[in-house]
Amino acid sequence: MMERVRIVEVGPRDGLQNEKQVVPAATKLALIERLAVAGLRDIEVTSFVSPKWVPQMADQAEVMRGLRRHPGVNYPVLTPNLKGFEAALAEGATEVAVFASASESFSQKNINCSIAESIDRFVPVFEAASRASVKVRGYVSCVVACPYEGPTAPAKVADVALRLRELGCYEVSLGDTIGAGTPGSVLRMLEAVAARVSVEHLAGHYHDTYGMAVANVHASYRFGLRAFDSSVAGLGGCPYAKGATGNVATEDLIYLLHGIGAETGVDLEALVDCGAWISSAIGRPSQSRVARALLARRAAAEEKQSC
Ligand code: HMG
Ligand code: MG
Repeated sequence: MMERVRIVEVGPRDGLQNEKQVVPAATKLALIERLAVAGLRDIEVTSFVSPKWVPQMADQAEVMRGLRRHPGVNYPVLTPNLKGFEAALAEGATEVAVFASASESFSQKNINCSIAESIDRFVPVFEAASRASVKVRGYVSCVVACPYEGPTAPAKVADVALRLRELGCYEVSLGDTIGAGTPGSVLRMLEAVAARVSVEHLAGHYHDTYGMAVANVHASYRFGLRAFDSSVAGLGGCPYAKGATGNVATEDLIYLLHGIGAETGVDLEALVDCGAWISSAIGRPSQSRVARALLARRAAAEEKQSC
């Protein structure tokens, strides 16, 4: 039997949150629509955070109102506190994500509070989400290293992941925020976390700064993870982790997973078109090696045909 892997597409949120030029809500909505048509079933669409902190996500209400919701597709959003949760709920969110860090310095820079304070802020979010039957996912950032503190102790990641699970997250996504991990450091981290939270409740969220994200996904898959976050065309970077690049490109992730016999439900060719479209819309080259290779192959085939 083929193994099924769940992909959480974070391009419209993680991918675009750091973009300096204004990306119109209409472009974001067209991207989300193309991702759904390509077969993505979990698409993180925006963040209900302060527009002063992340101006690119200031159009969250417009994005939510413009969604053409496909049956069977989830459209989660980030909510750092109750204010964000209430705003998201008012716009029809059915799934939210809270985000904590395994590093104190990153927590302060990213959400202006300590790790413990961030957990306190999440408690009312979980209570309100439970009342509204809204699913909550959790993120832990800096699971391998922090841009301000250096390497992160795996036990610290396990503590925060367990706390998020205990509060009610159906899944905890482990963020290598600065993409510094290798299969060695990622597996050491996963061993510590999986001793406290079972692998079926874990997801890998690997940024690709050092080009290790595909290797880290493969190592995590072999370890037992069956959920991964990725960003079409490898869009993105975190505003509070300078120099860090986007997530593993969804095209590269799908090519890897299909290549090792896993099933994702994603149409790679349609996804490549989607990646080429958004790269051109925002004027950035795609970071996906797989997309570049497949587009070059297509161009060569077309040239041959026209001869
Ligand atoms: P704060 O300043 O500490 O909050 O910010 P506060 O409660 O003191 O409120 C200050 C002002 O913010 C007030 O407005 C509030 O109303 C407003 P004012 O009176 O000054 O006009 N405010 C809000 N506005 C909109 N939405 C809200 C909200 N809450 C308060 N939800 C806060 C705390 C968390 C809001 C702020 O630090 C923030 O917005 N940070 C942005 C964090 C962020 O989006 N980071 C990027 C996403 S995380 C990430 O990328 C990592 C991840 O991908 C995993 C990985 O790769 O590691 C998930
Ligand atoms: Mg991220």
